[in-house]
Amino acid sequence: MAEAEIVRVRVAGKINLALRSGARRPDGYHSLATVFQAVSVYDEVEARWAPGTFTVSVTGEQAALVPADGTNLAVKAARLLAATAGAGRTDLGCHVAIRKAIPVTGGMAGGSADAAGALLACAVLWDLDTSPDDLLELGARLGADVPFSLTGGTALGTGRGDRLTPALSRGSYHWVLALSDGELSTPEVFGRFDAITPEAAQRPEVPSALLNALIGGDPLALGRQLVNDLQPAALSLRPQLRQVLQAGLDLGAVGAIVSGSGPTVALLAADESAAIDLSVRLGSEGLCRAVKRVHGPVPGARLIG
Ligand code: C5P
Repeated sequence: MAEAEIVRVRVAGKINLALRSGARRPDGYHSLATVFQAVSVYDEVEARWAPGTFTVSVTGEQAALVPADGTNLAVKAARLLAATAGAGRTDLGCHVAIRKAIPVTGGMAGGSADAAGALLACAVLWDLDTSPDDLLELGARLGADVPFSLTGGTALGTGRGDRLTPALSRGSYHWVLALSDGELSTPEVFGRFDAITPEAAQRPEVPSALLNALIGGDPLALGRQLVNDLQPAALSLRPQLRQVLQAGLDLGAVGAIVSGSGPTVALLAADESAAIDLSVRLGSEGLCRAVKRVHGPVPGARLIG
């Protein structure tokens, strides 16, 4: 048996600064060109030795919305790791305890974060001989956003969003997240995208001005370049989000975007004090379930004490 009985991992949520989507591919996925930024809202994933069993429990914000059975992506991650890197070991198994803070089905890769956390926690718990690249490869099998949840920082994603290249980014960006009640299903949003975008790009590309804004560390320039091809689809499924985007801009945000497939709205502030001001004022408007202030980029899945 390995030395540790319990391993804990902290893993961040993400915002897509740019999400350009092509048409649906034969495998059902869409070709993406995206820029991810990991931001400081974290789930904690704890893996505890439990030979021969794979179970999960969930606490924290919106815990009731997360399945606490084998359909949980973190359990699938633990099982996949055991069946691949752990093949031949008969002593593997774990209980995964997740503490949620990343919005559930909110467009911030919360489920992918938990899968990434479970991969790292179990690899250490079981003392497996896995490289970071091995975990990225297994992550991509679990979901398109899992590799980025492992690495964090700022990265360009191509393919399904799972092929990553680190992106240069200077400084720290201050965001206010407007969290909504009710979830938006990613497949449903992509389905609406297909219906309303008959001429999707063949080869989607991230705007070079956005990458330059990141290199320059300029939130005002970044705010102007934020782009999400899924936003019209998310807004058509959830028209109230228009008001949240507009309120954010009216209250001084330098950029406003639906995060991923939504319904979380990410508002970029000029600096930290502007973010504090924006979060207080937006919170009193009563347009969203909750308001959260975060910064990015931050690292991906990391062991904690
Ligand atoms: O990979 P993941 O399971 O997180 O994706 C959830 C769903 O989002 C997919 O089943 C698919 O419907 C949609 N998706 C897509 N194209 C991508 C990523 C996700 O169509 N590149």
